[in-house]
Amino acid sequence: MTASYLRRVKVAEVERVASRIKRFRLVDVENKPLSEFSGGSHVTVCMRAQDRVIRNPYSLMGCPSDTSSYQISVLKVDNSRGGSQFMHDNVVVGTELEISEPLNLFPPAKLARKHILVAGGIGITPFMSMMSELDALGSDFELHYGVRSAAEGAFCKLLEARYGSRIRLYLQDQDQMVPLERILSNQRLGAHMYVCGPKPMIDWALRTATLAGWPDESIHSEQFNAPPIGKPFVVKLARSRREITVGGHQSILEALEQNGIDAPFLCRGGACGQCETEVSGCDGFIEHNDHYLSEAEKASGRKIMICVSRISGDAVTLDL
Ligand SMILES: Cc1cc2nc3c(=O)[nH]c(=O)nc-3n(C[C@H](O)[C@H](O)[C@H](O)COP(=O)(O)OP(=O)(O)OC[C@H]3O[C@@H](n4cnc5c(N)ncnc54)[C@H](O)[C@@H]3O)c2cc1C
Ligand code: FES
Repeated sequence: MTASYLRRVKVAEVERVASRIKRFRLVDVENKPLSEFSGGSHVTVCMRAQDRVIRNPYSLMGCPSDTSSYQISVLKVDNSRGGSQFMHDNVVVGTELEISEPLNLFPPAKLARKHILVAGGIGITPFMSMMSELDALGSDFELHYGVRSAAEGAFCKLLEARYGSRIRLYLQDQDQMVPLERILSNQRLGAHMYVCGPKPMIDWALRTATLAGWPDESIHSEQFNAPPIGKPFVVKLARSRREITVGGHQSILEALEQNGIDAPFLCRGGACGQCETEVSGCDGFIEHNDHYLSEAEKASGRKIMICVSRISGDAVTLDL
């Protein structure tokens, strides 16, 4: 996908669902049905700020069979490059935005006999649509949802009302921890685990499942990866013979887009592989921030995922 595959939507509803989280309901500008999606999907939201365009992925939360509107929820992240703040401070009922078609990099496994969902904080969002889908299919699932406090946890009451004892909440301010080791040791064959939340929580859940003997194919995760900041550097484009500067707060992909160069992307989070680009020269080191390339590919220095990775050095030459 490139930036040109966008659909115009307008905001039909905004609700503050927790102290730092707002939910937005989006409808097509001409009230046409939106595309169907599957549980766990996300869209890329394109925000036109005064001085730049910000494109952030957000998970779809509504019922996948409801194509009349999409729902996303956004956590306000302080000291960030500004997308979540833009959504909180500038986007109101009636605001028009552009979004990509839905993409699913975190679907529930079709053959799983049970689904163990583990969410931390804003990592609840992909599970909202996943649970709607699993519930409609009559699939066996349970959600373990860790939140800082009742005030910071979004959708706790709604989830308990909708799914009853299949929802387990853990409040950090009351020292409640997800007893993952015990949960995983009591599952029948064919169960799958899914985790989404802060990176330390994902790492801990993956480690716990592996130590408990769960096979890799039964363990799934989605990380809300964003391009980290760093020092500015130059990108030399071998095919088009152009040079562009990547600012300290920009990804290579964002710098290309700012210069009118349409580069491929899907997830913008280092997971899908769409933006993989050949490196033909680098006068420093590539800082690989994706979870797509293999360790051997990263070590070769011949490939870079331009949505999240950057270099420490002055210049990198790409096959673009
Ligand atoms: C597939 C996918 C789905 C996503 N779904 C959602 C969603 O449903 N709701 C949502 O709020 N965000 C979601 N995100 C994250 C979102 O795209 C942005 O990264 C986030 O809103 C911050 O954007 P920003 O422009 O404000 O800050 P950025 O500069 O992009 O991020 C700033 C820093 O904050 C960290 N950070 C980014 N996001 C978070 C976060 N959510 N919580 C804590 N720290 C964070 C990053 O690691 C980064 O270092 C998703 C990301 C991906 C890849
Ligand atoms: S756009 Fe998905 S890995 Fe870069």
